[in-house]
Amino acid sequence: MPVTAIIGGQWGDEGKGKIVDLLCEKAEIVARYQGGANAGHTVKVDGETYILHQVPSGILHKNRLCVLGHGMVIDPVALCEEIDMLEGLGIDHKGRIQISYSAHIVSPIHKLMDLATGQMVGTTGRGIGPAYSDKAMRISLRGFDLLNSEKLGRYLGERMRLLNDQFKIDKEALAKLAEDVDIFLKAAERMVTMLSDTVATLLDAIRADRNVMVEGAQGVLLDLDLGTYPFVTSSHPTVGGVCTGLGIPANSITRVVGIFKAYLTRVGEGPFPTELMNEDGAKLQDVGQEFGATTGRKRRCGWFDAVAARYSCRVNGFNDMVITKLDVLDEFETIKVCTAYEVDGRRIESFSSVIHKLGDVKPIFREFPGWKTTTSNLTSADQLPSEAIAYIKALEDFTETRVSTVSVGPERNQILSL
Ligand code: IMP
Repeated sequence: MPVTAIIGGQWGDEGKGKIVDLLCEKAEIVARYQGGANAGHTVKVDGETYILHQVPSGILHKNRLCVLGHGMVIDPVALCEEIDMLEGLGIDHKGRIQISYSAHIVSPIHKLMDLATGQMVGTTGRGIGPAYSDKAMRISLRGFDLLNSEKLGRYLGERMRLLNDQFKIDKEALAKLAEDVDIFLKAAERMVTMLSDTVATLLDAIRADRNVMVEGAQGVLLDLDLGTYPFVTSSHPTVGGVCTGLGIPANSITRVVGIFKAYLTRVGEGPFPTELMNEDGAKLQDVGQEFGATTGRKRRCGWFDAVAARYSCRVNGFNDMVITKLDVLDEFETIKVCTAYEVDGRRIESFSSVIHKLGDVKPIFREFPGWKTTTSNLTSADQLPSEAIAYIKALEDFTETRVSTVSVGPERNQILSL
């Protein structure tokens, strides 16, 4: 049956890129439905590392059609850089990328606004919030507007004037912005050749029973409505975003897979109950090489939060979970999982009832013995040490969701099916 959605279950950076790359063996189309160049999906193939920001990870498989849906905000400059990178690596993308005519556009003005206003949340500075704000205010530029140079010129002039009124930009910054706008216009010219009616493409594919894979960006806890507001992104990574962001019916989605790291990370600001400010946190950061793929920022690290994960599984109705980076836990003596929070002396197991005061909760941990052995060279799940099996089983019990796959390294073949 046609649509499988791959969704990050935590605060992003769960390793979705690798899993989409793996599962899209069986898909003909891979589609993104939200976010933009704030995402950084890393895929490692034969020792070569690819970091994709807007183009779905399916581009690394020959003949897959890649769709950038209208729920995304597209940055033409970043897109052209990404396409140049793919060309440089010898990946043939011609005719394989379709961008929705209706997708909203990120301009250099949005990026400047993001840099000026995004510190409180610790945004990626990619202009995402300002672009979605313009969309909500109904003053945004969409894909097909790039075909109308008169409208485009008027729009950019007006937005630059507003930006100047609001932020009193100095002369130097204004001159740099004018240069960036020129680069933007050139990139937009290249991008228009990829514009298409992606709703029709996807609906026709679903009707013809062709396999479609949907690639989420960011994660459930960063969802504008269901995440840890205000420390969230401006789109809807949760499963509801798939329908609105691509224009496909809910009943066409036959499998929803949640991707979870075996521990937890977060970039940017906001509460993080299981965050480790000690040696264990530094070890997770170091062994897991936890740096943002888009900004290079160090990711904050902590133990797996099963309270948040259960919420994530329930609001998305995940059919199964994939646990990534299990190998990062290989050398730990003891591994902890947060199974409840303590708030005002009370034990709370419902994430949604404390989501508004997450900074005030204290995690209650359950400890698990580590396995102290290498898992990255295993080739089948029955070789997993008993302690690792017990850990995975506990995650299944806490979240009431089956673990179908475990990833034990960045390469395509470092994957175990359960
Ligand atoms: P924005 O999406 O750039 O507006 O950033 C909003 C928040 O989401 C910040 O805390 C970012 O660090 C976080 N964020 C955005 N994209 C990603 C991602 O791909 N991985 C992890 N965090 C992200």
